[in-house]
Amino acid sequence: MATITMPLAGVRGRQVLVVRFTAAERAAHWVHFVAFSVLLVTGMFIYLPWLHAFAGGAAGEASRLIHRGAAVLFIAAPLVYLVFSPREFLYSLKESFTWGADDVGWLKNAWGYYSQGKLGTMPPQGKYNSGQKLNALTQIISFGLFVITGLIMWFGKGSVPSNVFLASVIVHDLAVIATVLLFMLHLYLVVLHPMMRESITSMFEGTVTRAFAEEHHGKWYSERVLRKREEEFDPLSKK
Ligand code: HEM
Repeated sequence: MATITMPLAGVRGRQVLVVRFTAAERAAHWVHFVAFSVLLVTGMFIYLPWLHAFAGGAAGEASRLIHRGAAVLFIAAPLVYLVFSPREFLYSLKESFTWGADDVGWLKNAWGYYSQGKLGTMPPQGKYNSGQKLNALTQIISFGLFVITGLIMWFGKGSVPSNVFLASVIVHDLAVIATVLLFMLHLYLVVLHPMMRESITSMFEGTVTRAFAEEHHGKWYSERVLRKREEEFDPLSKK
């Protein structure tokens, strides 16, 4: 079957596919995922007393070196996104900070929806639903905290006042707790939750079925995907 250009990307079985993530968005997501996982594991070697065997001697040196290397990747991920997909980057950033009545409705009904499948109760969502936006905001804030405190620990030892150094360690650890809690929820939803199967495949393939887009991101589908499709057929309809 022929491939249809953006935003309808083709067909899977009898389902029409819609482009959800660009290649740069997917690359940035996976770079972030790998960097975050490596930072978490190597950070735990330092943080958890029962893993201290990996924090001393040659193993400790290697762990610290790998933590710093992964930190560079961690900082690079959003830059890859910004440089190679600036339009989507700015769109997603703006959406994360845009909240309204539909988000309140979504948050109120999310438990019933995800635990009992109460479909009709959820207000239509944008490219990201309110839970994803909450996750994105936490990631954005903690990213800033990780970078500032991490760089202080990396380059400031002995040169910054000891209370600044100690505060950096504490804030770094608090950011770990916040991000790990959300990371676990995120993993559960995308890997295990039966209603979200297409979420994970879209991060590999870049597309979701039209049915998934309409059900989970109805506002995005009608405002952005249908609008673009209209423009393709009738360039005069461009705003
Ligand atoms: C820009 C990003 C980051 C930078 C520059 C950075 C840098 C550092 C540095 C220099 C240390 C001190 C290591 C030592 O003792 O020599 C550290 C500790 C640590 N990092 Fe990171 N890090 C970053 C992100 C992360 C992330 C994303 C996580 C986990 C999700 C993480 C978890 C930890 C933990 C648990 C510790 C141990 C803190 C403690 O001793 O209480 N880091 N980090």
